[in-house]
Amino acid sequence: MSRHRIIIDADPGVDDAAAILMALASPEIEVLGLSIVAGNVALKDTVANACKIVGLSGRKDVGVHAGASGPLVRGQVYGKYVEIGSFDDELVVSGDIVPSDEHAVHFIVRTARAAAEVCDPITLCAIGPLTNVALALIQHPDVAKGIGRIVSMGGAFIALGHRTPWAEFNIYADPHAAEIIYGSGVPLVVMPLDMTFQALFTAEHFQQLRERGGKAGAALFNLFSAFDRSDEKRFGRPGGPMHDATTIAWLLRPDLFKSRKAAVGVQVTGLTMGYTYADFYQKTDRTPQADIMTDVDETGFINLLVERISQYGSASPQPNTPGGRKP
Ligand code: RIB
Ligand code: CA
Repeated sequence: MSRHRIIIDADPGVDDAAAILMALASPEIEVLGLSIVAGNVALKDTVANACKIVGLSGRKDVGVHAGASGPLVRGQVYGKYVEIGSFDDELVVSGDIVPSDEHAVHFIVRTARAAAEVCDPITLCAIGPLTNVALALIQHPDVAKGIGRIVSMGGAFIALGHRTPWAEFNIYADPHAAEIIYGSGVPLVVMPLDMTFQALFTAEHFQQLRERGGKAGAALFNLFSAFDRSDEKRFGRPGGPMHDATTIAWLLRPDLFKSRKAAVGVQVTGLTMGYTYADFYQKTDRTPQADIMTDVDETGFINLLVERISQYGSASPQPNTPGGRKP
């Protein structure tokens, strides 16, 4: 089985935690490291949270690399739950993982160049604002040869935004970075709110994580209980989205998703800054550079996430063993 060799660029972040733990428990995926960006909370806190998450997984072979503390051009914005800061110890136990000395952008550049050398480009799962990825591509354009695709949780094309009426948070937090990624020529797989809003996790699902997922499952239960993302008014039913984990689920089970190819773009100024648009009907001569996920099998996605997090309850992952499974 050829494994997905990935970098996860994240802003943990509660749903980032689920995505990272899901990836680290999946033998189909080799996590080459985490590049961390400010977003949900400030950089010092996203880095601390990432270290705690990796600590939960027991994977001491996975580096945590601090990156950009703010967007390229616009003013700093944080997530709705910026008061989360760094995860309290009673929510997520402290571990012994400390961040690498290597900057996130340098890590992305070095890893992508090494991948290009052996003609085995990596996948970059971007689940926070795109600042680190954009900096890597601007400063070292050759890096694009080592990145086979960017799987980006971000944007909203048919759905309305949720950080503003027009914009999804990751794109809104750094629209200029998104513009660079969309224009980079690197193939894009986009997980927009249009699709992530279709899969809502409820208290019952978090209970399953707590019962089956060991320390990792208990931490996710604590985080999702403390920072409830459900919105019955908006979704018309109980539960909240698990945006970031859709990037990992797609790598593992693309059959759970439906997609459409389109050229995508983003508004970088004015009231609608962060608004993303897709040319679904080829009305322009723009190259359709993105596979946009339009639908997800909600039950299949939820079961997959619960099943992978349950690995932490059955076998404590061994360091340096891909996916943490016992040999
Ligand atoms: O809009 C959802 C995205 O913004 C997710 O990645 C969440 O973690 C936040 O970063
Ligand atoms: Ca995120």
